[in-house]
Amino acid sequence: MRLHVVDHPLVAHKLTTLRDERTDSPTFRRLADELVTLLAYEATRDVRTEQVDIRTPVAATTGVRLSHPRPLVVPILRAGLGMLDGMVRLLPTAEVGFLGMVRDEQTLEARTYATRMPEDLSGRQVYVVDPMLATGGTLIAAIRLLIERGADDVTALCLLAAPEGVKAMERELSGQPVTVVTGAVDERLNENGFIVPGLGDAGDRLYG
Ligand code: PRP
Repeated sequence: MRLHVVDHPLVAHKLTTLRDERTDSPTFRRLADELVTLLAYEATRDVRTEQVDIRTPVAATTGVRLSHPRPLVVPILRAGLGMLDGMVRLLPTAEVGFLGMVRDEQTLEARTYATRMPEDLSGRQVYVVDPMLATGGTLIAAIRLLIERGADDVTALCLLAAPEGVKAMERELSGQPVTVVTGAVDERLNENGFIVPGLGDAGDRLYG
């Protein structure tokens, strides 16, 4: 597994406002959308393309377009929905699959309650979007499912990550074709499984 922390002043600036408890839901949604565009720019650096021949009004030339099969974008419900529009704006031809997962507040274990995506992901590049990587349980379960279905290149985009979750992913997904792109790795998890300093509960701040 590879970790890429996007070190950019615009990301840091938008994350700071996102974290602020005074930021209201409409602003939080807009910032999450803007941040995913910045993270996606880095996360799609290795998106597969193929060469095409075109004519400009002046001359013939070659360019690139996204290859087939199309990439798949998978938001993890519910908070991941806040990152979907920004992602498909950058990858308009992508197919979208959905994974509903919720973390038990006591045990912190992730439970899958909905799966709606292609059975066969052989040879597909997959982009999973979820704002928070806390214990890592949710993303590890999601990525295992994608790899079981044949995905051979999975990139997870998270607005924030905890070091504990990053370590768990490195341990559980070692040797797998997985990249995590995040805006920041924070200090730690607290006793309730929240990222510190974090931004609170992303699902509640988006949709609560
Ligand atoms: C949050 C978050 C991640 C998960 C991260 O979702 O959006 O999906 O927790 O935690 P983990 O890394 O410890 O597994 P939550 O379970 O609160 O569901 P929601 O998106 O429906 O609010």
